[in-house]
Amino acid sequence: MAVALLKWFDTRQRDDIAWRGERDPYAILVAEVMAQQTRVETAAPYHRRFMGRFPDVWTLADAEEDEVLGLWEGLGYYARARNLRRAARRVVSEYGGRIPRAVSELRTLPGVGPYTAGAVASVAFGLPEPAVDGNARRVLSRLGDLETASPSDLDRAARALLATVPERPGDVNQALMDLGSAVCTPRRPRCGACPLSSRCLALRRGTIGERPPRSRRARSPERVEAAAVVRRGRRVLVLRRPSDGLLGGLWDFPSVRLPSPTPPAPALTRVLREGFGLDCSVGEEIRVLRHAFSHFRLRLTVHQARWRSGEVTNPRPHRWIGRGEFGDLAFPAYLRRLVDEEISPRNAR
Ligand code: ADE
Repeated sequence: MAVALLKWFDTRQRDDIAWRGERDPYAILVAEVMAQQTRVETAAPYHRRFMGRFPDVWTLADAEEDEVLGLWEGLGYYARARNLRRAARRVVSEYGGRIPRAVSELRTLPGVGPYTAGAVASVAFGLPEPAVDGNARRVLSRLGDLETASPSDLDRAARALLATVPERPGDVNQALMDLGSAVCTPRRPRCGACPLSSRCLALRRGTIGERPPRSRRARSPERVEAAAVVRRGRRVLVLRRPSDGLLGGLWDFPSVRLPSPTPPAPALTRVLREGFGLDCSVGEEIRVLRHAFSHFRLRLTVHQARWRSGEVTNPRPHRWIGRGEFGDLAFPAYLRRLVDEEISPRNAR
C-alpha cells in the first residue's frame, strides 16, 4: 500500500511547500511548528523570511522575543513563536546546538507535541515515527474504516504503513498529509484519483462520509470587550501583553471586558481612570472587530479617546508611539488591520 502511495507522491511533489527537499533539522522544525495551525501554502513565505533572519538555531536562541514575534505577525497562535525560541535556547544549552533525533527528547522541547516530534524525527532523521495531522487522520481512518479513530488506533495504523517502506518514513508521512489535502478531502473526496482506492475499506463499505467521526464541539462562547485608541497629541498609547498569556508579548490598546449589554464608552472611561491612571474623553466608535480564538470568539468595539491628564499607572509595559512606529511592534492580526487602515496607513509611514 505504501508503495502505491509513494509512487503517487513522487509524481506530484508539491512545490508550494518551501521546505520540501530540506534536510536541515532546524529548518524542518521551524516549518512544522509554523504548519501546526496554519496551511502550508500560507506558512511558506513566513518560513522563507524566518529562515532568512534566523538561519540557524543559535541566531534564534540569541534573538529578542519581540523580533521573533514580529516575524510571526499574521500567523497567529503566538505561543508557537515564543516556544520555538525557547526550544532553540534549550537545543543550544542542552544539546550543543543539535536538534535531538529521538521522539522522546524532541517531546521535551517547548511546543513540540506528538505530531511535530514525529514529523521532525521522520522527515529530518528518517526514523519510522508517525506524524498524523488532520489530513493524515482522515486518510488513515478511511483506509482502515476506523470507527473511533482514537490516537492509539491512528498510531497503530500509521506504524503499520511505515513498516512496509522502512527507508522512506518522512515521505510516507508527508504523502499521507498531501493525499488528505489534495484527494481524500473532507467533503466530496476524489476517490477516482486516489492511488489507494482499491484498498480503502471505507470506500468499499460506503462509510467515507462518516470517517473520521466528527467531534461534536459546542460553538465557543463570545467574549465582549471594548478598547480605546488613546491619543495624546500625535501619539497613541500601546501596551505589551504579559508574556505568558493569550497573544503574550504582542502589543495592544487599553481594553475592558464587558458584561454583554453594557455600553462601551462609560466602561472605557472608568477603566482608563481606575486601571490606567488616565483621565480621558472617550469619543466615537471606530469599528467593531471580531476574531475567533480556539476557545472563544472575541467581539471588540474600538473607540477613539483623547488623553486629558494623568500618567500611566498600569503595570504592563507601555509606550506612547507616533504613526511611524506602529510598524516596529508586533500586533495581533485582528488589530493590525485597524492599525493600518485607521491609525498608521502604510503610505503615511
Ligand atoms: N502539513 C504540515 N507539515 C506538512 C508536511 N511536511 N507535508 C505536508 N503537509 C504538511
